[in-house]
Amino acid sequence: MCSDLTRISRLRSSGSLFLCVLLLIPGIGSGETFADEPAPLVKVLVTYHSLSGNTERMAEAVVDGVKSVPGTEALLKRVGQVTADDLFSADAVVVGSPVYWSNMSGEVKTFFDNWQFKFGVFPEFKMKNKIGAAFATGGQISSGKEVTMLTILAAMLGNQMIVVSGGGAFGASATTEGDSPGIDNKEMADAKELGRRVAEVAVMMQRGSSH
Ligand SMILES: Cc1cc2nc3c(=O)[nH]c(=O)nc-3n(C[C@H](O)[C@H](O)[C@H](O)COP(=O)(O)O)c2cc1C
Repeated sequence: MCSDLTRISRLRSSGSLFLCVLLLIPGIGSGETFADEPAPLVKVLVTYHSLSGNTERMAEAVVDGVKSVPGTEALLKRVGQVTADDLFSADAVVVGSPVYWSNMSGEVKTFFDNWQFKFGVFPEFKMKNKIGAAFATGGQISSGKEVTMLTILAAMLGNQMIVVSGGGAFGASATTEGDSPGIDNKEMADAKELGRRVAEVAVMMQRGSSH
């Protein structure tokens, strides 16, 4: 009888201890659950090279598109200003270049080369499974914009990134000289569409859903 009473008393005190531990865990007992905690913001780095401002205007429109997707934040930087932390903390990277001799400009190529020389992405493939996308501006209608975007995407694929398009088959682009000077409204809208798509896919990757 006496040992039965001792056992019951031990059980009751261990039950109280269990309840105390539960109440001390944040969220439990307050009606909140871990599922209520907001997901971290999805980070999209938009980076570009631009001498006369055309590619920069497209980059700003890409950022507008990113910001239209809830739960995301955008960082806009010139390629030469990007740090290792900018690169590795980003969930998605969108790279823009002017067309130079039917390809990406030297600054943008150097940026990609610096992924290894400055940031040491290889052999661990530190950019693996991040979302990647491209945009470009070129003086003429048919003189290298698609090659420029494809070579940007190729550099990303070589880094085992997941590349997406938007605003055009290979990304967003604009013709900036001759009969079509600067960036028109349609080209701005394409750049915004690219930013929106990249952000949506990055959110899907983080949460397993686009909502
Ligand atoms: C060195 C150099 C090479 C260029 N090569 C091409 C080219 O091959 N094809 C093209 O369509 N535009 C070419 N352009 C024009 C630029 O791509 C175009 O003006 C672009 O919009 C400039 O971008 P930004 O204003 O952001 O500097 C070249 C411009 C420069 C300075």
